[in-house]
Amino acid sequence: MSLLDAAKKVRENAHAPYSNFKVGAAITTPSGQVYVGCNVENVAYPEGTCAEAGAIAAMVAAGETQIVEIAVVADCPTPIPPCGGCRQKISEFAEPNAQVTMATVDGQINTLSVGELLPGSFSAAHMENG
Ligand code: THU
Repeated sequence: MSLLDAAKKVRENAHAPYSNFKVGAAITTPSGQVYVGCNVENVAYPEGTCAEAGAIAAMVAAGETQIVEIAVVADCPTPIPPCGGCRQKISEFAEPNAQVTMATVDGQINTLSVGELLPGSFSAAHMENG
């Protein structure tokens, strides 16, 4: 199964009764393993979590910390861009040249690198004087 297909499949499990906007994400790592996540909303709205965050949590829980590629998919007019918070979360575990595949359920695809999605990002290097 392709990374995008894995993201599409897990999207079906999203818990999104408040926004009705289901999102799926899938990550591959140097081991070749695939980790998936979906958005999980909560009646206390700010407690909801994004699909990318779920996939990252699954990856880290399995003992891996390197995103080679991440695919994100939703039912929207144009390929879904990860939200700002998720761009920072992805950056924690990815090189700037790692690929982010953004897609719609009906087959539109856009690909950017992590560095293109979050240029000039805050990193551990900025805390060196601390
Ligand atoms: N959402 C994600 O899962 N990932 C994103 O990058 C954008 C937004 C979810 C959060 C919320 O459950 C729903 O989409 C509407 O914002």
